[in-house]
Amino acid sequence: MQNWPKVELHVHLDCSLTYDVVKLIDPAITRDQYRQAFVGPVKCLDLADFLDCTNAAVQLLQTKKALSLAVHGLFSQWKRDHVVYGELRFAPLLHTQGGLTPDEVITTVIEAAETCKKEKDIEAGIILCTLRHFNESQSMETIRLVEKYLGDHIVGFDIASDEAGYPIDAHVGAFHYANDKGIPCTAHAGEAKGPESVWETLENFFPRRIGHGARAMEDPKLVNHLRAEQIHLEVCPTSNIQTNVFASYTDHCIDRMYAEGLSISINTDARAIADVTLTEEYRKLCETFGWAPAHFMKCNMEAIKHAFTTPAIRQKVRLRMMEEFTR
Ligand code: HPA
Ligand code: ZN
Repeated sequence: MQNWPKVELHVHLDCSLTYDVVKLIDPAITRDQYRQAFVGPVKCLDLADFLDCTNAAVQLLQTKKALSLAVHGLFSQWKRDHVVYGELRFAPLLHTQGGLTPDEVITTVIEAAETCKKEKDIEAGIILCTLRHFNESQSMETIRLVEKYLGDHIVGFDIASDEAGYPIDAHVGAFHYANDKGIPCTAHAGEAKGPESVWETLENFFPRRIGHGARAMEDPKLVNHLRAEQIHLEVCPTSNIQTNVFASYTDHCIDRMYAEGLSISINTDARAIADVTLTEEYRKLCETFGWAPAHFMKCNMEAIKHAFTTPAIRQKVRLRMMEEFTR
């Protein structure tokens, strides 16, 4: 399972710091201290409680060295999981507390990703996030940064953070701007709130993909709409258990999403905070729902179809998937 080729579309850089990476930045830290500060409990109260677990990582990621090490660490995890195409995401405006400018933050991540892509033979893109609690000007600043660096490296725009705690109003302008310019968009929704939040996101942000979207399953009309419009859902099962969207893995609706014919992919969301790898996520799906290679092949083909990438890379990844999955 580890050697199956995989596509991962939804993983946050600041939620994915391994002990090895943190130790390179802060050599004094012990494994216990790392677990305490950088790994979340198996069960959080809710999404807001989970988001509190990102504080230590954000505090650490305020220098070029730390950001670069974080990217190298994520690509190493991708390599172990045999990810052949990945999209990593982060909010650049969170990393300016140590004096870096947003441009320095972004170019540091781009340069590190460029090196890793070549070293590890992994195709990758970077998504910049605005956050629910940001104001209108921070959201506009973020989308203008996406526009400035759009190309081989920065590939899209997202909104993350506390879906239940903050309304969408401050971000409508940024998504309008993105859609006007043809910038690919995804948006976290249907995680801490139900189908009404997914409808609101679709009707105001017009994203091509939804981050999570699991709670869309509570509304059959919405399921039909997502299928008809081919909106891709970046599903992150273990993260949903941790944020208490579902009580346990058995209760997760991913198997029903698949059976409904929705376009879905399998993702970790937060490798360190959720203490999960993509291979473990695949193993849990096999054990819990009896998923077979065909399920994973289908999800990965849907993922690459909806990836924010070029036709040439899409084709290259498809060929790798077909060659290596049938081996
Ligand atoms: N939802 C919203 N914001 C996030 C998440 C998530 O699952 N993970 C990291 N930031
Ligand atoms: Zn997420």
